Amino acid sequence: SSAPEIRIYEVGPRDGLQNESKFVPTEHKIELINKLAAAGLKNIESASFVSPKWVKQMSDGSEVMKNLKRVPGVNYPVLIPNLKGYHIAKQCNIEEVAIFPAGSEGFSQKNLNCSVEEGLARFQEVAEQAVKDGLRVRGYISCIVGCPYDGPISPSVIAKITERLLAMGCYEVSLGDTIGVGTAGSVRRLLTEVLKVTTPDKLALHFHDTYGQGLSNLLAGLDFGIKTVDSSISGLGGCPYARGASGNLATEDLVYFLYGLGVNTHIDLVKLVEAGRFISNYLGKPTESKVNRALGDR
Ligand code: HMG
Ligand code: MG
Repeated sequence: SSAPEIRIYEVGPRDGLQNESKFVPTEHKIELINKLAAAGLKNIESASFVSPKWVKQMSDGSEVMKNLKRVPGVNYPVLIPNLKGYHIAKQCNIEEVAIFPAGSEGFSQKNLNCSVEEGLARFQEVAEQAVKDGLRVRGYISCIVGCPYDGPISPSVIAKITERLLAMGCYEVSLGDTIGVGTAGSVRRLLTEVLKVTTPDKLALHFHDTYGQGLSNLLAGLDFGIKTVDSSISGLGGCPYARGASGNLATEDLVYFLYGLGVNTHIDLVKLVEAGRFISNYLGKPTESKVNRALGDR
């Protein structure tokens, strides 16, 4: 049989940068996105259109989307919190939007300033409009196994939100372990429940690596047949409204891991490492990717 395929969904320019306190100039954001595309990534979440009063780092989303170099065949989705953000993003030649309800009340209040139910209603409006406009819609659920405010989250709660997002027209739902507290065990229990309401081709895995469990959680998830994985260049990432959240699973580590499984990712690891170095050097901090450290030091 042919080599298995895994779809990598890069979130570095959005999830990676949103947590950085030092403002990254627009041209550096764009250069990062262009380098990621040049390394072979086909899905690059490039901006968010959230309130600039909430996340200043992402306030230049329009400039980023209007000026990045569009590579044919590369998808540049953006994160959208409400119709206001949608209408701004719509002026920027976008093809895919991502909506992001929370799996827990505590985090919903902190991240979206509303309840889970109110958040779902707002996101439903965004999804309806986007579908009408012919755009693809992706759904995230945050705090899939644990919330920094509410503690452990029941898998059945996440399964219900997954169903709702799919009913809104999302082509896939990315299950987000926002604070990285998941383990292979809790991820298995979650997926067993979620896969009662959908099939693996409708799911993606979004692991933050706070507790160093990202790759083992991923391996647990791949056993269920899931074929889309979110990761962030250099392991950047975190949500400013999730206490204790740190970086995402690093894209360099993911690509190295997939090589080992015989998956052809069509990604140039050398160029990927260079992209990671570029942004880490700019931010003035060491890379969070062990693979980047191992290869970059040569
Ligand atoms: P709010 O303060 O309740 O909203 O925030 P509001 O409607 O009262 O608006 C406040 C001000 O912001 C108003 O301005 C609005 O016009 C403006 P004023 O009238 O005071 O001058 N505003 C906007 N401006 C531009 N674009 C917009 C927009 N919306 C309002 N879209 C809101 C509610 C949802 C807006 C806010 O809570 C928000 O922006 N939250 C987003 C926080 C965020 O970006 N978090 C990180 C992303 S989530 C994540 O990282 C998790 C994920 O990776 C998955 C995982 O890891 O699990 C996806
Ligand atoms: Mg995230």
